[in-house]
Amino acid sequence: MTVLAPENVNLVDPELYATGDPYPVFRWMRDHDPVRRHDATEYPAFWSVTRYDDIRAVYNDARVYSSAQGILLRPQGHGQDPGGGRTLALTDPPRHKALRSLVADWFTTRSVRALEDAMRDAVRQVVARAVELGTCDFVTDVAGRLPLYVICRLMGVPAHEQEMLFALTTQAFGAGEPEARSIAHQEIMAYFVELMYRRMDEPADDLVSALVNGEVDGELLTEEDILLNCDNLLVGGTENVRLAVAGGMRTFLERPADWERLREDRGLMPTAIEEVLRWTSTATHIMRTVTEPVVLRDRVLEAGDRVVLWTPSANRDERHFENPDVFDLTRRPNRHLALGAGEHFCLGAMMTRTEMRILFSELLDSTRSIEQTGPAVPLRSIVVNGLESLPVRITPA
Ligand code: HEM
Repeated sequence: MTVLAPENVNLVDPELYATGDPYPVFRWMRDHDPVRRHDATEYPAFWSVTRYDDIRAVYNDARVYSSAQGILLRPQGHGQDPGGGRTLALTDPPRHKALRSLVADWFTTRSVRALEDAMRDAVRQVVARAVELGTCDFVTDVAGRLPLYVICRLMGVPAHEQEMLFALTTQAFGAGEPEARSIAHQEIMAYFVELMYRRMDEPADDLVSALVNGEVDGELLTEEDILLNCDNLLVGGTENVRLAVAGGMRTFLERPADWERLREDRGLMPTAIEEVLRWTSTATHIMRTVTEPVVLRDRVLEAGDRVVLWTPSANRDERHFENPDVFDLTRRPNRHLALGAGEHFCLGAMMTRTEMRILFSELLDSTRSIEQTGPAVPLRSIVVNGLESLPVRITPA
């Protein structure tokens, strides 16, 4: 395999993820320059961290590596992330803990278990609809529906408003024109404003009410904080699951023997799900900002420096995983970093694993075959990794 000289590779070029293969580049970086300085381009300068151990070390030190200036690289002209210091993911300790405990109850094992039957019903409807459609887009019509349904339930979006929100999120976070996407996003925010006011008048047992009535340091959250957190939960709760499930399905379409093996032996489901999470690594990068001078491996980082953690690279690090470039349904141990680590470890981890288990199990139970009917279209993004569409035909069992 020829390894591209990394000088010729721009890690912030979405084409690298859409049409290229970033893995040889990440491998070169892990071997030769694991904490590498990148000069400013349309993005500000940053350090790339590509080894598993270094990425885990950064995740585990929330004091030195802050989230409050944003957790994603933003083009220079875009300014600071408006959620900085306000949303759960973009808050540092100690405020972060207080904010997390406001919403944590909805994500415990017990809360997720309580939703399992409803999830199963929802998936059955999704699959029945996909079968009726004949050919459908697995990404939007199958993988995207369950996570949105679940997050709507948690947030207290009434059933009759969910289809409308589904259409808006598909538009807002899909591949359409930027203007149409921005309008759809504004409509989502307007919807949350209205839902927030409804919950102020009539609190219910849901996440929006928890944000409306919850206090951090003895103070209620501002309306803007509530809205930014709602938006974050909606995006965080839907986008990555959709991409992981669709990426997993594509992997199974490429490896039909693994799909059949899973059909025959459902005991493999837990390790299969972890391997799909590792393999798809849908959160391409997560960023931190250094708060004081620190040495990371052999590099001295200064306060204010940006540090970018590349998840797909950590999850293919040969120093940590045996045969990392092999998709192995039975891989164990599999302490991948697809869901982050440390203080900000994905709040929806249990939810994600349950959604994936139910979706794949129902697909195995209720379909005879799933065939790809056209080319898979990759996303052009440096933020999330995966497919924009995957045309399939689902034949019922
Ligand atoms: C395959 C699915 C998912 C992936 C790959 C994923 C990935 C991640 C990652 C990498 C982080 C760490 C961010 C950081 O350290 O800055 C994170 C945090 C978070 N995730 Fe997920 N996530 C997934 C599903 C979900 C779901 C289903 C929800 C909610 C229903 C969710 C809600 C959150 C929240 C609220 C945080 C911030 C937690 C905090 O800052 O304390 N995620 N996720």
